[in-house]
Amino acid sequence: MDNLIVRTFDPGDEQGVNEVMRKAFKSPNANAYPFPPSRFIVVAELDGAIVGHTTLRPMMFYVAGKKIPGNVLHMVATDPAQQKKGIGHAVLDRVIEISEREGQLVSVLETPVPRFYGLKGWEIIGDRKELVISKASLGESKDLPPGMEIADGNKDHVQVYAGLRERFARQFTLFAAGNVEYFQRIYEFVNNGSIVNFFHEIRLNGKIAGYVGGSRDADVKEGEPLKVTIREIVLDQVSDGILVAILRHLLSFDDEFQAVSINFPVSKEIEAVLLARGVKSRDPGGNKDMVRVNSVDGVINALGSEIGAGLSALVKQRKGTRAEDIAIDVDGQRVLVQCGKETCKAAKIDGTVAVKNQLSIIRNAFAWMVLGIKTPSDLVKSGAARCNPASILPQLDAMFPKRLVVLNYYPNFYQAHLKEMGIK
Ligand SMILES: CC(C)(COP(=O)(O)OP(=O)(O)OC[C@H]1O[C@@H](n2cnc3c(N)ncnc32)[C@H](O)[C@@H]1OP(=O)(O)O)[C@@H](O)C(=O)NCCC(=O)NCCS
Repeated sequence: MDNLIVRTFDPGDEQGVNEVMRKAFKSPNANAYPFPPSRFIVVAELDGAIVGHTTLRPMMFYVAGKKIPGNVLHMVATDPAQQKKGIGHAVLDRVIEISEREGQLVSVLETPVPRFYGLKGWEIIGDRKELVISKASLGESKDLPPGMEIADGNKDHVQVYAGLRERFARQFTLFAAGNVEYFQRIYEFVNNGSIVNFFHEIRLNGKIAGYVGGSRDADVKEGEPLKVTIREIVLDQVSDGILVAILRHLLSFDDEFQAVSINFPVSKEIEAVLLARGVKSRDPGGNKDMVRVNSVDGVINALGSEIGAGLSALVKQRKGTRAEDIAIDVDGQRVLVQCGKETCKAAKIDGTVAVKNQLSIIRNAFAWMVLGIKTPSDLVKSGAARCNPASILPQLDAMFPKRLVVLNYYPNFYQAHLKEMGIK
């Protein structure tokens, strides 16, 4: 398509961009507001008309205990009259270029069309699961455990919530970071006069020990009980008594609510308490969550000390054998990972440079390895990676172990991270 121009947003594009979204999503209200700075909005123009759009929303995520910059891809759309001609892929190419230039190391999205993104290196994070806890399973007692209080969120406490969330998020991979601004936005969002959204703090012995936020069903879906949905639950201390008290409190809003749903994988402790109570997890179906690692050297350098920690344990166990340097080749793009005692560094190298050890991997699978969904050994076994010589596989497994992936973000609160990311 010689006459296709893919570029960033100009102020005059607003109407054209909105029309494309409305047509593509078949909804008169589809939009990508609030817009980020223009350099994060991509438009495709064909013969002077806007035919494609997407927006990148810069955001910070925890990956392997480190806070790293990334983005969320939002409202990818091609005019239905121009689909299947390569416009969508041309827009994604531009997204990849912008992400690399801006140092946004991972791109996350939620989609009904995973194949389309899979072709450009995005990979499905995993199956979603939903835990549905019925009111009947929570028993009758209305008493809170001794020393426990549940109160509405308080805007003077946002600093405390942010601290709690940061400690909690660090345990997971792909949990969006939550700073003070993030909580100010949640607070405004919840207190906009709507009774749909809620945010409560949980106090134990007079100290704020967690919070729970989410929304209440506004109407009944056929064959489903009216539910309260938890979108975030952060707890310093987890026990059956505390969790049951929170769930009962959420349901006490109105007798009509018959179940609480948690549709992200929460922490192991919370899940363990719920599973022990006989709660079943189910696949809620619908969209898939996907991630792409945009910069191989960037992400390895950002995780350097974390990767190094895994390595030094292995080196110690091998009684002092030095860790080997390894070239990682992701779809032909090579970086040399140099392993020191406590950390790893990565730098791009020419494809022709000879390196003794090499892992060759497709970009989609590289996302799984970095996130800790599959180990390098798993990927070699499945044919998604090749390792030469095989003797370096145990070292790679120590560098990229399995991790608990919990993707949790509010796409509309990306503005909270702009300042922290140095974006004007
Ligand atoms: C998803 C969407 C953005 C794709 O846009 P598009 O411009 O049609 O994308 P492309 O043409 O680059 O690729 C679409 C498919 O056509 C194929 N294709 C690309 N160029 C082609 C060509 N010249 N001839 C025939 N097929 C072509 C691609 O291989 C791709 O294959 P896939 O269906 O296996 O993914 C578009 O379908 C859309 O707007 N959908 C509705 C909104 C939506 O769901 N957005 C995604 C939200 S996350």
